[in-house]
Amino acid sequence: MTTIQVVKAFTNELFEALRYGKAVDSTVAVSLSFARGRALFTVFIVSVLFGGLFFVIWMGAWLLSKGDMDAGQLVSFVVYTAVIGGAIAGLGNFYTELVGAIGATERIREILEEKSEVSMPVSSDGLMLSHAIYSGKRLEGRIEFKDVHFNYPTREDVKVLKGINLIVGAGEKVALVGPSGAGKSTVIQLLLKFYGIKEGDVTVDGQSIYAMNTTDYRQNIALVPQEVLLFGGTIRENILYGKPDADESEILEAARQANALEFIERFPDGLDTVVGERGVKLSGGQRQRIAIARAILKDPAILLLDEATSSLDAESEKVVQEALDKLMEGRTSIIIAHRLATVRNVDKICVLDGGQIVESGTHEELSTLADGLYNSLSKLQFQHA
Ligand SMILES: Nc1ncnc2c1ncn2[C@@H]1O[C@H](COP(=O)(O)OP(=O)(O)OP(=O)(O)O)[C@@H](O)[C@H]1O
Ligand SMILES: [Mg+2]
Repeated sequence: MTTIQVVKAFTNELFEALRYGKAVDSTVAVSLSFARGRALFTVFIVSVLFGGLFFVIWMGAWLLSKGDMDAGQLVSFVVYTAVIGGAIAGLGNFYTELVGAIGATERIREILEEKSEVSMPVSSDGLMLSHAIYSGKRLEGRIEFKDVHFNYPTREDVKVLKGINLIVGAGEKVALVGPSGAGKSTVIQLLLKFYGIKEGDVTVDGQSIYAMNTTDYRQNIALVPQEVLLFGGTIRENILYGKPDADESEILEAARQANALEFIERFPDGLDTVVGERGVKLSGGQRQRIAIARAILKDPAILLLDEATSSLDAESEKVVQEALDKLMEGRTSIIIAHRLATVRNVDKICVLDGGQIVESGTHEELSTLADGLYNSLSKLQFQHA
């Protein structure tokens, strides 16, 4: 939904209009005080300028009458004074522009000095070569979290993960469940190496991911997020994002396995249908199936699913789930699920609460813990279903 629709749905037009009015008022107040300053400065400059000019003419007339100066000298003196005075009056503007330019340059310098997380190889014509050059070795996908403590760098005081220990064997499927804010998405963000950690370690195939080349490592991972963002452009370009050098038959096969081919072929332009702002709007389920096709094309050893089926109706959920099942085959998969029914068949379910794994085991094992968190979560969902 666009934000405009949110405003309308909550009938907050008046509220937003007033808020906008206030923002405009304060902008006007700032510009007014700025303008006042400039006006005073201009008045000052103009009086000095004309005062000086008047003084020069007066002095000149006096000297002329005494015979110490001739008329030509007086005229050139008056012209010089006017030119110099004009230049000085211009200094005010010059200063404003200089300060503005320094501000802008500082921002650019900040961006330029930002430390890059990986050094991307760039070809002579400036194209990124990451996909072409990095044919780093394929990982098996055995994941281990060793006593991981973590807080986001923007909030040093809030501990988000408090000692996570987790082993996921190569090819295993593990579900993360638990209340909102427990730290499930954070676990996935760490696996993607979006943040560093100060305590503990995350290893894949026994090697710390922080010791691996980030691009090589990420080549082995695919993420299917809950809210799939498609880039402007065609469906083909969006699927190719998983493997830019894939050929036509590979794209079609990936789309077919993702249960996306059928709806793609219903568009008159097929794979070349433009999506997004300027093109066809796709439904949530269609976007997810494109994201799945993208992941299938990438053929990763590790698959991360964040709530992939929660926003769909029963019908599209079934096709998306089928596509996901195919995608998960033979890959280490970590699945974040809010609805517990979708993860009954995984190898292990880990229940997170307050940044810790409080229970783990199969669905059957966790169901026997009478007053466990898993049980109370499933009871809640059963009541609401
Ligand atoms: N980028 C961030 N910066 C600072 N704090 C964050 C950030 N992302 C998440 N948090 C905090 O970390 C905690 C865990 O968040 P996380 O997104 O991992 O929860 P979650 O288990 O995925 O919840 P949900 O089920 O609602 O998606 C929350 O308290 C949240 O406020
Ligand atoms: Mg989350």
